[in-house]
Amino acid sequence: MAVWRLDSKTQTLLLGAIAEEMPSVLYWGPALSKTDDVQAYLGLAKIGITGGMLDDLPALSLCPQRRDGFSAHLGLRGRDTEGRLLNPKFSTKDVEETPSSLIVCCADPDLGLTYQASFHVKEQSGVIAARSRLTAAQPITVDWLSTPVLPASQAADHMVDYAGRWCREFQEQAIPWRAGQYVRDNQTGRTGHEYFPALLVPDIGATQSHGMVQAVHYGWSGGHKVVAEELPDGRRQIQFGHASYSSQEAATDFETAPLYLAVSEQGYNGIAIQYQDFVRQELITAPTPERPRPVHYNCWESVYFDHDLAELKDIAERAHSLGAERFVLDDGWFGHRDDDTSSLGDWTVDPRKYPEGLQPLIDHIHGLGMTFGIWFEPEMINERSDLFEAHPEWVLGDLDQPRGRQQLVLNMALPAVQDYLYQAIAAILSTYPVDYIKWDHNRILPLSDAAQTQGTYALLDRLRANFPLVEIESCASGGGRIDYGILERTHRVWLSDSNDALERTRIQYHSSLFLPAMMTGSHVGPRDCHTSGRRLDMTFRAWIAAQRHMGFEMDPRELSDEEAESLRTVCAWWKDNRDWLMKAHILRLDHQDPSLYAELHRSMDQKDFVVFANYTDTNGQISPRPLRLTGLNPDKRYRLKLVNKQELVPLSMGETALAMQDHIEASGRYLMTQGLNLPWRFPCGAWVIQGEEITDEDKK
Ligand code: GLA
Repeated sequence: MAVWRLDSKTQTLLLGAIAEEMPSVLYWGPALSKTDDVQAYLGLAKIGITGGMLDDLPALSLCPQRRDGFSAHLGLRGRDTEGRLLNPKFSTKDVEETPSSLIVCCADPDLGLTYQASFHVKEQSGVIAARSRLTAAQPITVDWLSTPVLPASQAADHMVDYAGRWCREFQEQAIPWRAGQYVRDNQTGRTGHEYFPALLVPDIGATQSHGMVQAVHYGWSGGHKVVAEELPDGRRQIQFGHASYSSQEAATDFETAPLYLAVSEQGYNGIAIQYQDFVRQELITAPTPERPRPVHYNCWESVYFDHDLAELKDIAERAHSLGAERFVLDDGWFGHRDDDTSSLGDWTVDPRKYPEGLQPLIDHIHGLGMTFGIWFEPEMINERSDLFEAHPEWVLGDLDQPRGRQQLVLNMALPAVQDYLYQAIAAILSTYPVDYIKWDHNRILPLSDAAQTQGTYALLDRLRANFPLVEIESCASGGGRIDYGILERTHRVWLSDSNDALERTRIQYHSSLFLPAMMTGSHVGPRDCHTSGRRLDMTFRAWIAAQRHMGFEMDPRELSDEEAESLRTVCAWWKDNRDWLMKAHILRLDHQDPSLYAELHRSMDQKDFVVFANYTDTNGQISPRPLRLTGLNPDKRYRLKLVNKQELVPLSMGETALAMQDHIEASGRYLMTQGLNLPWRFPCGAWVIQGEEITDEDKK
């Protein structure tokens, strides 16, 4: 009998095993005290048995197997080269325990299989990364390999995950726990708008700021499968892995991607803090971390494929005058790309549009003091392209497959494809001073193949190694490839193709559990939104973009003087605050108002914060309810100021202190218990309330 223990600053994981059996996770929850006698917990984990059960309850091991009597979803499904199902019996060979890792090694010598589960602590965030690896003496086929199986809380009545679609990513859904399996098996070959690879298990009653929540995120861009199952005895298991049948070829070595674990006793916000810290401090490696995040201008929605040098220069000047610091040249600069029917694959500058190459445009942009970024969609190919004429055999899947956005996909597993793309992209990066790539991926794949994802990772890794100063944004028709696998290699995500501030409010709010502000792109779109037809006020559009990594995407020539001034003001506010804001924790506020999406962004030193109270609709009762803040020190006092008081309309009457006074002061306890009375406002608008701790210095 043995118990192994792994502690991060936020959670404890206990593994236990009787004799040589494969270990199980005995405990996965908030950090246990160092003095807790965990050896006793193997015995305490035993549950009652009655008629109708096996005499000895099969363990919910790290990779549960039929041979152990486990009759629910197995942790591994493999076949030998003749197609016979493997039915392994693993026993533990070794457990390597260090202060920051546990590595469990099990084997079935008869079948020549070795199973390894590893757990690594991420020190700064407290997140634990777990993955499984299977090696075989002879080639086998693996249809399913789960990350180390985790027990889900039995004090939860539902779980939470995300569905979505183009322009409406991160649709949160609550799934009731009930007997049997909840399975999502993403066969799109990429992360997808539809399947964000995460699952949350909130205990009954958990809120944004209170209660226990377990969370996992699968760091893989090729599509995942999740199984959340309640067994007949009440135990619940969570399995994650590559989408089933992702390993097309027989092989001897299989590995899952890492599953990132977080546990909170402070509701969803405790999860948000860990994942945001993890992404910002441990996952993303910014080329120039000391450089403030630049305000972006992206020309897609202003010119689409219609590139004209003089016009682009004019747009760049106007964008710069509004506050932009980086100009991103989107789709349309290469091949003969006048619409989306041609040229993907031909990554050379279109001489019709740019007779002297890109340098004149870049010189102009640099002359304004902005940096230059450029769009690629490397993994794709159009039939109308030189590349297709030369290499139709590079296409992934059959040529009679349905097209997506009229395009086909390159087989990224082929070294020749990787080399070609590397050379083509490297040629642009070596010829021109590019500091940013928007890396797009605009269709689902004809098949789900882990080798495709690995090929893309290899290409990204090679480019990163040789062009370390270039930042990369992951885009896939907006948020179709957002996961911790791609974020290990990129620096920003294009959260959605929707620049509609209403849609954005919701998408940003739900994605904040997993994505810190500094890598979540958010742009001010056109007055009439191109993807929803809605017309929203500039102040709202600007404040929504200012809640993440800010940018603009509208044609600046359409702006009225008043709109331009509003945007300039918000952009200047963002720049004044970005140093702490881009490192802040985004905490969500509990309240009763379905029209309100409210976030509090708190600085790392917890002395500064800003509340964004985003109203997407009119509220049900006639006055806004008091908004309770969170994450403040109850014993400190704070000074708060309504930043955008000028947005008060005559219909907003009443003497709310925030509207009447230059600032207000209150203790953290008052603000977190009684809450803030906000002025009445029109819907589709945001109140912005900035707060700071009152220090002893201030009091003198
Ligand atoms: C995708 C992206 C857009 C834009 C277009 C260009 O749809 O999400 O932002 O780059 O491609 O074709």
